[in-house]
Amino acid sequence: MPAPIRKAVFPVAGLGTRFLPATKAVPKEMLTVVDRPLIQYVVDEARAAGIEHLIFVTGRNKHVIDDHFDIAYELEATLRARGKHGALKLLEELRPTAGTVSFTRQQEPLGLGHAVWCARELVGAEPFAVLLPDVLVKAERGCLAQMIEAYNERGGNVIAVEEVPKDQTHNYGVVDVAEGDGPFFDVRDMVEKPAPGTAPSNLIITGRYILQPEVFGLLEAQETGAGGEIQLTDALLSLMKSQSMTGVQFDGKTYDCGSKSGFLAANVAYALDRPDLADELKPVLRELLDAR
Ligand code: G1P
Repeated sequence: MPAPIRKAVFPVAGLGTRFLPATKAVPKEMLTVVDRPLIQYVVDEARAAGIEHLIFVTGRNKHVIDDHFDIAYELEATLRARGKHGALKLLEELRPTAGTVSFTRQQEPLGLGHAVWCARELVGAEPFAVLLPDVLVKAERGCLAQMIEAYNERGGNVIAVEEVPKDQTHNYGVVDVAEGDGPFFDVRDMVEKPAPGTAPSNLIITGRYILQPEVFGLLEAQETGAGGEIQLTDALLSLMKSQSMTGVQFDGKTYDCGSKSGFLAANVAYALDRPDLADELKPVLRELLDAR
């Protein structure tokens, strides 16, 4: 069995300019899908996969993320005094144990690769996961848990991949995979945000990674790539020269909450899954759609 994946890195330093003015004072990771912030979904996915230590790479203006994963004394005391035990229990269940959350800052917006590199001292010399909070994967078994299954079988590095329409590949990291007959593939090549019409396939990187710590050395030396940023994908391409890279085509539906339409779709999909909301929401949605 390869070394266990105990730590997960959440890059949350982005400015969220696509969601202005909502993100002027509120970090985009705190935008809500139904009644919980985006970051809570990915943290829950990580914890369900057995992650013990959460590492947030933050930036200025992100204090509410720290607060969200802390005790809210005043609020919780008030809930207690009012006998709101359900709400209190929910907050307690979602709160990570003291000492299992770390924060570090990406001081400059130099790209995803640089953000991950900023976590090097907190991760140390062990394999780790990276989850991008923009991407929600709605699945019976969490995407990271499915990837850990692949990792336990194959070791090395593992990325989540999925098919998108060809005309969308330029928005993502795109991989080329060897023929395989299961949900796991050997990744042969990858490119970050290929120009339209040049992608090696329509399989994109979904925003979930299991990486070996050697990636940090490569990120340190990584030159800027697509968009003038230090790209994680470029460092992974170098890493593949000496280590295995497995692509996992996971079961589940992805919502790219970095885009407004993906974010809105996530809200509808997660709400329709909620017994306390679905019955009320369905006729409203039908009416709205019928009127178009
Ligand atoms: C990042 C990664 C990209 C990946 C995408 C998934 O891009 O660089 O490889 O496909 O996340 O959402 P970003 O969305 O930060 O531009």
